[in-house]
Amino acid sequence: MTTPLRLGIAGLGTVGAGVVKIVQRRADLLAERTGRSITISAVSARTRDKDRGVRLNDYAWEDDPVTLARRDDIDVFVELMGGSDGPAKAATEAAIAAGKDVVTANKAMLAIHGQALAEAAEAANRVIRFEAAVAGGIPCVKALTEGLAGNEVQRVMGVMNGTCNYILTRMESAGLTYDEVFDEANALGYLEADPALDVGGIDAGHKLALLSSIAFGTRVDFGAVELEGIERITITDIEQARDMGYRIKLLGVAQMTGRGLEQRMSPCLVPAFSPLGTLEGPTNMVVLEGDAAGQIVLQGAGAGEGPTASAVMSDVLDIARGIRVSTFGKPASALVTATAAQASVPAPFYLRMNLLDKPGALAKVATVLGENGISIDRMRQYQHDQATAPVLIVTHKTPRHALDAALTAMSGTGVVEGDPVAIRIEAV
Ligand code: HSE
Repeated sequence: MTTPLRLGIAGLGTVGAGVVKIVQRRADLLAERTGRSITISAVSARTRDKDRGVRLNDYAWEDDPVTLARRDDIDVFVELMGGSDGPAKAATEAAIAAGKDVVTANKAMLAIHGQALAEAAEAANRVIRFEAAVAGGIPCVKALTEGLAGNEVQRVMGVMNGTCNYILTRMESAGLTYDEVFDEANALGYLEADPALDVGGIDAGHKLALLSSIAFGTRVDFGAVELEGIERITITDIEQARDMGYRIKLLGVAQMTGRGLEQRMSPCLVPAFSPLGTLEGPTNMVVLEGDAAGQIVLQGAGAGEGPTASAVMSDVLDIARGIRVSTFGKPASALVTATAAQASVPAPFYLRMNLLDKPGALAKVATVLGENGISIDRMRQYQHDQATAPVLIVTHKTPRHALDAALTAMSGTGVVEGDPVAIRIEAV
């Protein structure tokens, strides 16, 4: 057997402890699979005296992750601290400069600094691997970078924030409001310290930006992801979308269009019986579409100790096996700066509005849609006993700008009460 692969682990939260457990409990298996033993030389975390449920006495302790990253007795710096800047970035840069490979679960750091870090790693002949940064235990980075390497990727989609999927599906199954389920998710410990990262779509947007870079050979550009969170989704929309055959998901979509790279993370309707439509609870799903392979659907746990540690270990084992892949699937210098598509491709939309219950109200709405070139596919008016009638319309494909113009015109008709709700329907 050749020399051991020696790890330095910075960050001993849920994921860090999970990685230590796998290294300790599966030592024989890991060595058999790679031909090298995987060892831990040193660890680092904010607090030393804390019971993490794993034995750490055999490892050197460093208070400073940058010092850990530079140690002579580590080959791979495993960054599990999180945060786009600060210690995580400083220690990652220090590790690369000191000639270490890097394995990280840090989506925020790579979504913002991925290009610079990939360039630095390649200049130093080192690798940065990040399977654990996207969709927890689902091996989607590997599937895209390696499994689909022979394809022109056409579209990448995903439900990549388990907390949001939990909230949306729990609202539906329990008939609870967004606020009620948000509080439940908080009590269950699902929410990030800054909940906006989850419910505002930022965490999932980081993940989409990373997959998009690999899929389309472009410099990672989180700033170009069109972001909308789930905060304004109501139980009414969830129920009425279901009634029309759809479910609402916080869905990421990336595709190269004739007008540039489209990257969106926003609530969308998907057919209830599609794989994405059947996804329940905090589970994640990533859908990859290649010209040769067709559609690949990957489903699994998007967070948690075991799944995320499993993803970290897959990168560690690749390095032990001598598999060295460019960070985003091709040399950093060859990644191109994408033109961001200024408008998303036309799609059908779900519209919900309250109409004054008087003769000609519906006709006025239909006229406004027609005047903006929008054709109605299906329509339903719900029973009501008030002065307004809830109306749902599913349109045929329309550009978003035409829909926005129609929504503005509707408010001037005098028959629509409040603001209509408009949600894109994604063909999946
Ligand atoms: N907070 C994320 C989620 C997991 O709910 O899926 C970490 O990215």
